[in-house]
Amino acid sequence: MMTVTALENAEIVPFSLKDAPSLIEKAWPTAKISAETQKERKAVHGQTLTGLGSYWKGRKPLILTRACVLAALMPATEDLERDVEIFEKLMGMADETFGRRFIDGPAAFNRLFPDHANQVIDYSGRALRWRGDLSDQERQRRITKAFMDLPYAERLDKVRRPEELTEQELLSGVWDEVNDHLGTCAKSVPELVEQLGVMRFGRRPKFADTFSGSGQIPFEAARMGCDVYASDLNPIACMLTWSSFNIVGASRSERARMDRERDAVLAEVEGEIAALGVEHDESGNRAKVYLYCIEAKCPRTGFMVPLVSSWVISKKRRVIGELIPDHVNKRYEILIRSHVDEDELAAANLGTVRSGRIFHPVLEDEIGVSIKEMRGDFSDEAGKNYNLLRRWTKEDFCPRGGDIFQERLYAIQWINGGDIKKGKSNPSTWFAAPTAQDDDRENLVKDIVGKNLAAWQAAGFAPDMEIEKGYNTSQPMRERGWTHWHHMFSPRDLLLIHILKKHAILHPDLYPAVCIAANNHSRLARWTFSQSGGDGGTKAVFSNQALNTLLNFAHRGGYGVREYGVFSSAPISRASVVIKQGVAQGIEEEQDIFVTDPPYADAVNYDEITEFFIAWLRKNPPPPFDEWFWDSRRSLAIKGEGQSFKASMIDAYGAMAEHMSDNGLQIVQFTHQDAKTWSDMAQIFWGSGLQVVQDWYVSTETMTELKKGGYVQGTHMIVLRKRRDEQSGYQDEIVHEIRDEVERQIKEMIGLNDQMDAARGENIFNDADLQMAGYAAALRILTAYTKIDGIDMTREALRPRKKGEKTLVDELTEFAVQTANEFLVPDGLDRALWLELNGAERFYLKMTDIEEAGEAKLDQFQNFAKAFRVGDYDDMMASKSPNNARLKTAIKLGKTSMAEGSPFGRDSIVRLALRGVWRIAKEDEVDDVLEELREMIPDYLRKRDTLRQIIAYVAAKREHTEPDEASAARILGTAIQTERI
Ligand SMILES: C[S@@+](CC[C@H](N)C(=O)[O-])C[C@H]1O[C@@H](n2cnc3c(N)ncnc32)[C@H](O)[C@@H]1O
Repeated sequence: MMTVTALENAEIVPFSLKDAPSLIEKAWPTAKISAETQKERKAVHGQTLTGLGSYWKGRKPLILTRACVLAALMPATEDLERDVEIFEKLMGMADETFGRRFIDGPAAFNRLFPDHANQVIDYSGRALRWRGDLSDQERQRRITKAFMDLPYAERLDKVRRPEELTEQELLSGVWDEVNDHLGTCAKSVPELVEQLGVMRFGRRPKFADTFSGSGQIPFEAARMGCDVYASDLNPIACMLTWSSFNIVGASRSERARMDRERDAVLAEVEGEIAALGVEHDESGNRAKVYLYCIEAKCPRTGFMVPLVSSWVISKKRRVIGELIPDHVNKRYEILIRSHVDEDELAAANLGTVRSGRIFHPVLEDEIGVSIKEMRGDFSDEAGKNYNLLRRWTKEDFCPRGGDIFQERLYAIQWINGGDIKKGKSNPSTWFAAPTAQDDDRENLVKDIVGKNLAAWQAAGFAPDMEIEKGYNTSQPMRERGWTHWHHMFSPRDLLLIHILKKHAILHPDLYPAVCIAANNHSRLARWTFSQSGGDGGTKAVFSNQALNTLLNFAHRGGYGVREYGVFSSAPISRASVVIKQGVAQGIEEEQDIFVTDPPYADAVNYDEITEFFIAWLRKNPPPPFDEWFWDSRRSLAIKGEGQSFKASMIDAYGAMAEHMSDNGLQIVQFTHQDAKTWSDMAQIFWGSGLQVVQDWYVSTETMTELKKGGYVQGTHMIVLRKRRDEQSGYQDEIVHEIRDEVERQIKEMIGLNDQMDAARGENIFNDADLQMAGYAAALRILTAYTKIDGIDMTREALRPRKKGEKTLVDELTEFAVQTANEFLVPDGLDRALWLELNGAERFYLKMTDIEEAGEAKLDQFQNFAKAFRVGDYDDMMASKSPNNARLKTAIKLGKTSMAEGSPFGRDSIVRLALRGVWRIAKEDEVDDVLEELREMIPDYLRKRDTLRQIIAYVAAKREHTEPDEASAARILGTAIQTERI
């Protein structure tokens, strides 16, 4: 292999990798990458860039990009097994790195690995200590050995993420092996990236992401040493991308300077708020949180009713609000009571609003009054909905007298002023009802805002932007009558954030803090009584991806403002970074590697929801933000599905293909939704002049997210190359080519699996990989053609369709998918038999095979159900738990799912075989069972061998998990073999 010696001489280094396939085209250890990805996601706020703006949803894990870039640059050699080994070493995923990634001390090790403990622990003293006679390396080697007994995902619970170690810590000792294998002379990842770039592209690799969002993808590529181009249409995305490089990625010294300045400014902001005297009481205590609720007049009783869904304020401290009727003024006093007993706490959980209806003590009515009635909802003849809420005007910042919905401060959480003075890190707090002085302070705030709002708006210190109707934005307009973005902020919110914005106009690195403040200080910021260990706490607006209005909301005081400048630090050395605002199709410079995560289908409406922040930031931005267009540009944002989505995606990817070096590579990440999105994507790439070369499937969702959603999602990583020449062909020939390519691909991967299994006792590819790679192989053939049967495929991909129309592209894509599925024959079955089975039968037998290998995830079931086109498979499932989904065994299926219309179908031979096994297990006479099979299976004699094979398969697959069933299957199998007919 050629060796790169001196990078200064880059131009004389032969391009030894110019035409070499990349590792990511051939092999990629998805199971380990999935596990590492999930570990990063689980770190939530511990993730490197999340602190800059947790409101940005759908951040792509950094480790995923690292794995893409490295495997795009590394070549796939004759020795794929060694390639993967080297890749894993560089990713910090190889066995030997676990000794270094282990965080805890000897006591934890002793607990986790009792069998290995005396190898590394000194038991002589009272406290457990590492043995002093071992070198660091030797100790780590022994710790690694203990880890090797654990499955990969379990190891990760006990170690740091690779990026939490310095590169020196993680990769020391690997460079000789790496350089030897790759022909490089690197001593760090950026050096390696540069050298591989020179060998492949003749330069340090140029990397682009034209849908950069929060900047996760380009940030990691830059950290690895690529020259980076990042662009996005949305100014908030650009600001976050900028912040990732210039704040988190800043050098240590630059960062220290920035932090000092920012701390000083934030302290000033906090001081300014404090000096207004609106957050302190007479004894010097400071308000931490103000709790407000909507109040409305009950049409039956004429009482003003505070509207909340629960009167519990703090669960742990047993604080509740209690309504005391004031019959004279037709309103309620709200008592704030602490340390109530369990019964009172439980009773207080019932608020005045239940399932959209209002109940209150004076009403004495079990039906209540509907909120819709209070709001005066009605529809016109055309079915359009209206209500009687007054539309707020630009001057409004709180309800006017006479508005249907009023607003009321009902509780304050105070921080002990003495504790603050003493600098206690955890000062004591308590809840109280507002006093007359508190009401005065409320009025003072309103007064300040009332007098100054117009001036603030004119100076760009507060929003004055109108809300435009939209999927998310219509909701607050309809439910509250709000018309301008500043209506989403209470007077206290406006006062606080405007002070911050006033300073941010001079400091670009305070811009992220303004968005963090807006996310935390809004009428859409919720109070949750069980948060913060049960004490109660506030939840930011974008804890989900909508603009939900609230009955009761919380304002955090200025005390916490300083936290808004605390970001992590991960300096990036020597990368060149270009950040541009603009549409993806506007790319102008040639790039070598693209990794993108495009918008698609029903994902987040970034354009609409970011207007919440744009409204704050758009006026008077400091350089470099003053070069950007501070508008969400809804009309240019790619979203949705259908024709216009496809056309703009083809435009975008067409431009990227055009601006990609000839041997460049694209990796597109998109979250799996259904086969249709996948095939739309395939067609888009086809229409863009790209050829699909590979598709990997990574499970990206974490456990907690799974629990919430109850379903599992993963991400496709589609690898694409430029389609180089014009190729024409005919369907009937292409069909054969597809078949051959799929078979070759799947056999190659199974071969590599066997090789790895023999060498390291692990498989590199799981079934989903084989499935996706099979699809990709079919698409590789398909997307290489520019013309099929004389039809121009690029134009065909773009052609608008009639509803329900199936085009040639659809048919061929579908054929490609089905062909791939035909090759996914489970271990232990004949391909000829497999081809005879229907989708549900294939699904059941395939999943039986997967279950044999260990716990199966629900997304595997979902993927295969889609692959085999099984619509409803609930009847076949014993459990649909996300991480341990299971089929019903033959015994559990019993006599169910036999009827016409069940997924198996009426004459299903698999179903009949399972029924036979069930009957034997319940000790029916063997002869009776055989007789039934003979009767129920048409053409029994010809089908007998198939039946026997299926039964033998069930016996083998259930041997360890369901021994009773396996034994019944063996009895039945022998009976069929020896029956006399
Ligand atoms: C799925 S997000 C990318 C998320 C990103 N990978 C991350 O980790 O945060 C898609 C991005 O595409 C941007 N976008 C939508 N239409 C666009 C267009 N026509 N050109 C460029 N960017 C666009 C959106 O603003 C959004 O930031």
